[in-house]
Amino acid sequence: MSKIVKSKALNITSMLNEDRVFPPSQEFAKSAHIKSLQQYKKLYRESIQSPEEFWSKQAHSELLWFKPWKKTLQWKTPDAKWFVGGKLNVTTNCLDRHLDTGTANKAAIIWEGEPATDGKPGEERVLTYRQLHREVCLFANVLKKHGAQKGDRVLIYLPMVPEAAIAMLACARIGAVHSVVFGGFSAQSVADRIFDCKAKVVITADGGYRRGSVVPLKKNVDDALVLEGPRGDRLAASVERVLVLKRCGNEIQMHEGRDLWWHEELATVSPQCPAEHMDSEAPLFILYTSGSTGKPKGIAHSTAGYLLFTKMTTRYVFDLQDNDVFWCTADVGWVTGHSYVVYGPLANGATSLMYEGAPNWPEPDRFWRIVDKHRVSILYTAPTAIRAFMKWGDEWPKKHDLSSLRLLGTVGEPINPEAWIWYHNVIGGKRCPIVDTWWQTETGGIMITPLPGATPTKPGSATLPFFGIHPEIVDEEGKAVPRNVGGKLVIRKPWPSMLRGIWGDPQRFRDVYWTEVKGSYFTGDGCRQDKDGYFWIVGRIDDVLNVAGHRIGTAEIESALVSNSKVAEAAVVGRPDDLKGQAIVAFVTLKGAIKAEPAIRNELRNHVAKEIGPIAKPDDIRFAEALPKTRSGKIMRRLLKQIAAGNEIIGDTTTLEDFNVLAHLSKNDE
Ligand code: PRX
Repeated sequence: MSKIVKSKALNITSMLNEDRVFPPSQEFAKSAHIKSLQQYKKLYRESIQSPEEFWSKQAHSELLWFKPWKKTLQWKTPDAKWFVGGKLNVTTNCLDRHLDTGTANKAAIIWEGEPATDGKPGEERVLTYRQLHREVCLFANVLKKHGAQKGDRVLIYLPMVPEAAIAMLACARIGAVHSVVFGGFSAQSVADRIFDCKAKVVITADGGYRRGSVVPLKKNVDDALVLEGPRGDRLAASVERVLVLKRCGNEIQMHEGRDLWWHEELATVSPQCPAEHMDSEAPLFILYTSGSTGKPKGIAHSTAGYLLFTKMTTRYVFDLQDNDVFWCTADVGWVTGHSYVVYGPLANGATSLMYEGAPNWPEPDRFWRIVDKHRVSILYTAPTAIRAFMKWGDEWPKKHDLSSLRLLGTVGEPINPEAWIWYHNVIGGKRCPIVDTWWQTETGGIMITPLPGATPTKPGSATLPFFGIHPEIVDEEGKAVPRNVGGKLVIRKPWPSMLRGIWGDPQRFRDVYWTEVKGSYFTGDGCRQDKDGYFWIVGRIDDVLNVAGHRIGTAEIESALVSNSKVAEAAVVGRPDDLKGQAIVAFVTLKGAIKAEPAIRNELRNHVAKEIGPIAKPDDIRFAEALPKTRSGKIMRRLLKQIAAGNEIIGDTTTLEDFNVLAHLSKNDE
């Protein structure tokens, strides 16, 4: 039965067409960390009623400290400080602590390279905890040798190779703050990020493999380092050194005095590198993400709270057991890669699998081949990938033995029930629980999720909050709405891995997250709770698109478009897309005499790729003589969305400045 629920004030509609429930199997629950809904509820209640007691207990038992903390939480909206006065190092917790145990020789990272174009299978590397520790200490010494110190920012722009994790951990070892930039971003994006965080060192590779071709990472860095800002100053003037990993052997330029080869530098340093004693609240990393303005936000995360929360969520959400092979398919350029490829799994002494390439290269069974080969037991991926697998057909997974899988996870966007059921049946062989995990770059770790031995799941719902997380759905006034009514999702109480701010911009931090609903963290998502208290995320309610599980701000694309000399004005909206969740549609008005020709479309798409990166390329560009605006001059996005989706225009249009514009846009499909 399908019922539509609408919150009038917010115009959030959500479909209630899913009433299937999948309880955890007794078999799974028996050996799970959390074995029943009662057990979850009891612990959850404790964590909400006495949060400081709860987190203090966890921090004692989970983390290794150089110096204990004095105060568990210091909270003055919007600034949280957790475990105040404590000292620790993330790498002691992820690496050193395992060296005196049986875990020392366990695989920390299993890496699978992209298969070569000549049909040879991909390379494979395994790093044990002992080996990873050594590599991290060596590279930490390289960073130190080149002047990186506690608090300095280091930009990492690498492919999905073990060195990406090594570079992140090496920063953490010496207390430098890393900022990983996804390899799909352009030179301009790299330069903007360096400018924003004033990075001293850049770590990159000659190139990275992607679907048989080489992404010229070093070349992009070279370009980034000479780009100028609006005032004619070099954006990346803070960079003193570029450390270059040899990955593809493609030809590159090395600038003397600035650029150094990773492998040559390793040979010059000692493998002993004591871990810096870091304050609990010291920044661990900055990760840039899109917001509703044109400028990406540098989300800053802390040391102790982040580590504790990612460690606990990895263990409980994925019900991690000692012999699991855990594969989170995200790139380390996204927060999912930070928390569930690197920090969470390693803090637990788990085996984390990393894959360099694309899911359909050389053939659409690449993932299933890897699951089969490495006996992957936990697979964590995105709904957009699952929908692509569905489209490619069941024959690809059916070719392989997937019996090692015991748990599946999803993240990044709402999963449609059809994809959920397919994942459950075809990949999970009907025996694997699915954890649909809701969280964000800002939250650091998983916030709303089933616990697989405890929570009955409903396809499409992220179900219930993790320990210590207090989400609520509120109306325009910030008041909690009744069950089954849509509203804004907020988090009422601070949690250990919450963002500590936007790098260098405390005012924006307050404005974006803390003013919408007074005293609470505003997620930007619309949501509804059903009669059982389950959370159903509807999607973003601001001007942020979720394209293939990646957040892209419409304003960012608009400002990239108008930076092209042919464009007068641009408005970007999302259109529902079966595969990617949302596709990017740009409405563009060209300057004066310039005629709308198909070639300009390509030019503009490439222009956006150059400005931001290929991930932001509009799927559709539609030319218009003028954009529809209200009398106060605001672009009527609601209307453009309807046009983009091919819907008939509904609703009130009397405030339109020019009705002709509207008629013209609807027809303009050439
Ligand atoms: O809209 C929500 C959606 O992705 C946004 C966060 O994007 P990002 O910071 O890039 O992090 C993605 C990986 C954590 C959220 O505001 N989102 C994420 N997970 C889910 C989701 N929407 C529905 N269900 C999810 N499980």
